[in-house]
Amino acid sequence: MVSDLLDAVRAGSRVPRHVAIVMDGNGRWAEGRGLARHLGHGEGMKAVRESVEASLAAGVEILTLFAFSTQNWKRPEAEVRALMEALRTYARKESAELAASGVEVRVLGEVERLNAASRDAVRHIEEVTGGGSELRLNLMVSYGGREELVRAVRSMARRAGDGLLDPGSIDADLLEGALYTAGLPDPDLLVRTSGEQRISNFMLWQLAYTEIHITATLWPDFDRGDFYAALLDYQRRERRFGEVGTG
Ligand code: FPP
Repeated sequence: MVSDLLDAVRAGSRVPRHVAIVMDGNGRWAEGRGLARHLGHGEGMKAVRESVEASLAAGVEILTLFAFSTQNWKRPEAEVRALMEALRTYARKESAELAASGVEVRVLGEVERLNAASRDAVRHIEEVTGGGSELRLNLMVSYGGREELVRAVRSMARRAGDGLLDPGSIDADLLEGALYTAGLPDPDLLVRTSGEQRISNFMLWQLAYTEIHITATLWPDFDRGDFYAALLDYQRRERRFGEVGTG
C-alpha cells in the first residue's frame, strides 16, 4: 500500500532534500491509447500533482520538474501550444492550492521566450505562491543545461569586461551563483520516467553527483507510490562524491 511505502521512506536513513524529475513518456502514453500526443501532456499534470503531494508528505524540500526544454520549441506548433496551455492551466488552477500547502513555485529558464499570456501565468503563479516554506517547486521551462551554462559564462564575461570581476576569481561557487538554481543545493536524486537512460541536457552542472533512478512507468501513470519507490531506491544508495566509501 502507498501509506506503507511512505512509512518506509520516513523510517529510512535520509530523505533527499532535492529531487529533480525528467517527466518523460507523455506522447507514448497518448499514442498507446490511440489519442493525440498533446493529450498526454494534459494527463501528465496529474502526475505533477502526485509528485508535489508526495514531496510534501515525505519532507522533500525542493522538487525540480523539467516541463519544457529549449529543444522542445522545435516540436510541431500544435504540441508547443499544448505544452504552453498546460503551463497556463496549471498556474490558473493550482496556484491557490499550492500556496495554501506552502509550496513556493519558481519558473526557471528563458521565460522571455514565452508569449505574453504564458509570461502572465508565470508571474501569477510566482506571486501567489511566493514565500511558501514547505516545498520549493522549480518548473524548468524553455530550459536547457548547456544554454544555462552559456548564459552564466556570458554574465561573468560581461562583468569581467566591465571591470567588475577579476577573471582569476572565477571558481565553482561563482559559476553556481550565475545559474538559474543559484542558492539551491544540487539535486540528490534524479528520476526519469519511461525507461530512457539519458540526461537530455538537464541540469548538466547540478547533476554531477546526483543519484539516478529510472523507471519504465510513463509520466502520466507516475503516482505517489512510484515517487516513494524512487526515494526508497535512493535510501539504498551509498553516496561517495568521488571519495572512498565508509564501508
Ligand atoms: C516528455 O514527454 C514531456 C514533456 C516534453 C513535457 C512535460 C510536461 C508536462 C508533464 C505537463 C506540464 C506540466 C506543468 C507543471 C505545467 P514526451 O512528449 O517527450 O513523451 P514521448 O517521449 O513519449 O514522446
